[in-house]
Amino acid sequence: VREPDLAGRHVVVSAGGTREPLDPVRFLGNRSSGKQGYALARTAAARGARVTLVAANTHLADPAGVDIVRVGTAVQLREAVLKAAADADAVVMAAAVADFRPAEYAAGKIKKKDGQEPEPLVLVRNPDILAEISAERARAGQVIVGFAAETDDVLANGRTKLARKGCDLLVVNEVGERRTFGSEENEAVVLGADGSETPVPYGPKEALAETVWDLVAERLG
Ligand code: PMT
Repeated sequence: VREPDLAGRHVVVSAGGTREPLDPVRFLGNRSSGKQGYALARTAAARGARVTLVAANTHLADPAGVDIVRVGTAVQLREAVLKAAADADAVVMAAAVADFRPAEYAAGKIKKKDGQEPEPLVLVRNPDILAEISAERARAGQVIVGFAAETDDVLANGRTKLARKGCDLLVVNEVGERRTFGSEENEAVVLGADGSETPVPYGPKEALAETVWDLVAERLG
């Protein structure tokens, strides 16, 4: 049994994948199941933290002793995370957030027209929630953790992303159609803004979650 080293702390975890609607029946989405974020929420609660879990489109059982806020889109996820982060000691962004959303939402189902080419899909940028909370720091000493889902040049891309987002820790994991998304296991390197690198070998998502909380707890002091 672990020490309740997060007792008295409020932590916010985002999990799952956002869905950006095109019309009443279609959306742009991604392959995140929410399992890594839920593992973070469960392990933080077991270590004594008060946990707010912002869950985007997940179908997992509610973890016990955790406050859940359900969201659909990136804009809704931003609102929920900003609200919960206001008094949080740490925020961990494990959700896969869409960088873009359709510029327009069609109130009725988009129909195909005989003999016509499809209309090009126009996208606009979504807000970058991790960069925003890292720049604003709702609370002094707040520890902010991002995840980076990469398919190649994993570490180099991770370092660049850490600098661009301005968070304290970035968990870099490799993803693919059948890799990491939806699985019970993960493998990662946790990069610190202080130059540190913590490798986490292939194993259950809970084990990676525990390492993340170890590094957060160290920084909270
Ligand atoms: O859910 P699982 O099936 O268990 O899979 C876990 C996971 C692969 C989804 C998870 O481990 C993971 O890597 N999550 C982050 C996915 C992601 O969006 O990565 P990214 O490299 O596109 O974004 C980098 C960081 O910025 C992330 O912390 C993301 O939450 C955040 N972000 C991204 C875009 C945006 N508009 N706003 C953000 O805050």
